[in-house]
Order: sequence, then structure tokens, then C-alpha cells
Amino acid sequence: LVNIRELYRNQEEYLDKTVTIGGWVRSIRSSKNFGFIVVNDGTFFEPLQIVYADGLENFAEVEKLNVGAAIIVTGKLVATPQAKQPFEIQAEEVAIEGQSSPDYPLQKKRHSFEYLRTISHLRARTNTFEAVFRVRSLTAYAIHKFFQERDFVYVHTPLITGSDCEGAGEMFKVTTLDLDNVPTNEDGTVDYTKDFFNKPTNLTVSGQLNGETYAMAFKNIYTFGPTFRAENSNTTRHAAEFWMIEPEIAFADLKDDMILAESMLKYVIRYVLEHAPEEMNFFNSFVDKGLLDRLNHVLNSDFGHVTYTEAIEILEKNNDKFEYKVSWGCDLQTEHERYLTEEVFKRPVFVTDYPKEIKAFYMKLNEDGKTVAAMDCLVPGIGEIIGGSQREDDYDKLLARIKELGLNEEDYGFYLDLRKYGSTRHAGFGLGFERCVMYLTGMGNIRDVIPFPRTVNNCEL
Ligand code: 4AD
Ligand code: MG
Repeated sequence: LVNIRELYRNQEEYLDKTVTIGGWVRSIRSSKNFGFIVVNDGTFFEPLQIVYADGLENFAEVEKLNVGAAIIVTGKLVATPQAKQPFEIQAEEVAIEGQSSPDYPLQKKRHSFEYLRTISHLRARTNTFEAVFRVRSLTAYAIHKFFQERDFVYVHTPLITGSDCEGAGEMFKVTTLDLDNVPTNEDGTVDYTKDFFNKPTNLTVSGQLNGETYAMAFKNIYTFGPTFRAENSNTTRHAAEFWMIEPEIAFADLKDDMILAESMLKYVIRYVLEHAPEEMNFFNSFVDKGLLDRLNHVLNSDFGHVTYTEAIEILEKNNDKFEYKVSWGCDLQTEHERYLTEEVFKRPVFVTDYPKEIKAFYMKLNEDGKTVAAMDCLVPGIGEIIGGSQREDDYDKLLARIKELGLNEEDYGFYLDLRKYGSTRHAGFGLGFERCVMYLTGMGNIRDVIPFPRTVNNCEL
């Protein structure tokens, strides 16, 4: 079987020759003694038209094919200069691998994304989701390529862990204890000696702490894996299970971190524009009209930079526009992030130096004693896509912060060791992979860029 992508890419080689393709019926029209089938095999965004006639041995069966059926077609590939598509196949043989039932939900009409979410096992067979998931795949590859070309080592950090990297307490517990009959100590607390790991454990919210240990061995590393957050946020940009890319660079500060983040995002944008032009044009036409202009503009400009304190000054002047009013010390909500990037900067922007109280324990304290060397990258349409920081590399300051926040010092022994044995400036960030795919495709809901999304109250399939 030849892929439809291959037919498009190397047309000259196949025109006027007999080819065999396998795919699924997208639509079928039949007349008395001939008909047309549009087939998609998932390898290329443009479907392929098959013409068949009553010369076919199984003409009667072919005529009765339903949308969704799987077929293998052999025939001559002929040029169709007058048509929208460059060529079609004149079928000599149509083998029916699997007929489709007439109740196949994806008939040729527009379905809402909401409805398609209820059939996530079938939605990848629609144009939109075919495009989304191919771009998702290419994006993952582009990210690996970016880091590998720069000699970063890919580190697999554990998914089950005893620590809470972000300190937000939004973790899914991992246990083998019988929840209906939890063993307890005399004081009523859970007896974790009866649990699998002999201690409380959870799914990781971030691979960063483990990643840092490898940065202190390899200088530059990145992680790329699933992370889990039991955030009770039912929004279009929060998922309970999402993928994160976390580079960590040694002998580097916050500026180096932002340069890395900006070059990575630009690299990925360039890569998908170049390698998925059909899909990107489709998004631009049917999902988000300004998409290509916006992405091209990003490639041709520098990201904005603003400190948290300056950002608050800008936002405070516009407090009448916000549901949540801002003041120094508060965390930025999506509406504020979007205002900054969409109305003020009109391009991606780094917000830096947040108050230490609203950021994680590991961030480097600035000289003012109030803010930390943090950066969030905000993009139009979404808000925060990246969160990063320079890490506290001073043993005493880090220990003091761990104690101040009431964290269990023992849990962070390995992390403190890094500040004991050859500590150096280092920084890193986390890119939310799904948010990145949303940004690249213009898709507005995180549920529509994950094959099988897990969100509050939803763990189907
Ligand atoms: O800002 P966050 O919480 O940063 C960290 O986890 C750091 N440990 C990263 C680092 O410095 N190595 O998360 C990073 C990014 C966010 O900017 C966002 O894009 C994404 O992860 N993210 C989510 N994406 C989808 N659903 C959620 N619930 C998300 N929470 C965070
Ligand atoms: Mg963040």
C-alpha cells in the first residue's frame, strides 16, 4: 500500500501508474453505473477521490458502502487538471475490508467540538482533529529536535513521587491501601508502613526537581512527559493530565532562560508552518482567522519583557475592565494575562520578578528580598504558556525557605545536596505542551488538543 501523502509528495512518480491505497470512506456518491468515493488514509490532510464504474466485479457491494468503511483500492492514478484535487484513482479493484454501520456518527456535516468530545475514539477521523493531532505529533518532534540539536540530554523523570514540586498541594495520591478500610496509627493518622512505598506518594506535578539533579551532571537537560494536577479548575486551559517540557540549564541565569524559551517557541512555530502547511492553512481558514498572521508576526519580532511590578501598574489603571481587581501581591488571572499580551504588548511577553509569596519555594530570591527571579511567558489567546525561574542555588537561603514554608526538610535532602556539592547558577522552565498546541493551532479548548482529555468530572475512555 502506498500512503496518500506519498502520492501527493511524489506525484510524477505515480501518475498514470497503478497504485494501491488503503483508507476509510469519507463520502460516497453513486449514479447508475459509476460513482465517486472520497477516501482518507490519515497520512495526508487532503483526501483522495476514487472513481469506480460497473466494470467492477463487486460493483453492487461497492455502491452500498457507508461512510466510515475501510477499503483497499487498486487503480490508475490519473491527473485531473480541472478539479480541485490534482489527481484521482480510477478503480480497477475495490476490496472491502470492513463495511461501516449506517449509524456511523461522522456523516458528512459539521459537528460541534462539544459533540465530538463525546466520541473521542472517533473524532480523529474528522478534518479538524486529524489536523490537530498531526500538528501535536509534529510539535513533539520539533521540541525534541530543538533540544537534541543543542546537545541537551533527555531525562525521564519519575511519575510517582513523594514530593510536591510546586507546593500547591494539588496532587493525585498513589496508594495500594484499601480506601474502605484504611490502616491507622494509634493517633488516628494513616499508617503508611502498610502502603506500597512505605510513605505517602502522589503522581508528579512536575519533573523539575529530579531534572535539576541531572542538569548538575549534564549541564543542559530537558524532560518531556506527563504531569498530573488535581486542580479544581474547570477552564478551557486546565487539564488534570497534561504533558510538560522542562529544560534545565546550568551556569545560566534568568536571562539565559528567557532566551532559550523564546528560541524554542520560535523554532517550533517555524517547524510546524514548514511541515504542516495544509493543516496550518486549514486552521487559519476554519478555526482562527488571524492565526498565520499572528504566528508570522511572532517570528519577526522579539518577545516583550515587563516586570511583575510594572505589569501591576499597567493593570491597576485598567481595573474597571477586570472581574478580579489587581493590586501588588496578587496572582495574575487569565483575564489579566490576556490583557497584557493581547491589548498591551500584542505579542508574547515575559513577566518577571514575581512576589515570592505567590511562587514556588525553589525560586531564587532577588536582592529586594521581596521578589524572586521568576518568569512567565504569556501568549495571546491563552495567557500563561510557560512558567520558569532561576533556582535558589544558595544552601542556607534554600533551607531557610523550606523551613519558612513548613516543608518537610527530609523530603528535600537530595535537592539540598545539589547546593552542597558544586552548586552553580541554574535556571529552567516548564512549557505546557497542550497550551503550546493550542497556541499553534488556534484551538480554544485544551480538551480538543489531547486525544483523551482528563479534566474535572471527566475521565472517559
Ligand atoms: O507554571 P508551572 O506550574 O511550573 C512548573 O511546574 C515548574 N516546575 C516548571 C519549571 O520551572 N521547570 O507549570 C508550567 C506550565 C504552565 O505554564 C502551563 O503552560 C502548564 O505547565 N500547566 C498546565 N497545562 C494544562 N493544564 C494544567 N492544569 C496546567 N498547569 C500548568
Ligand atoms: Mg505557572
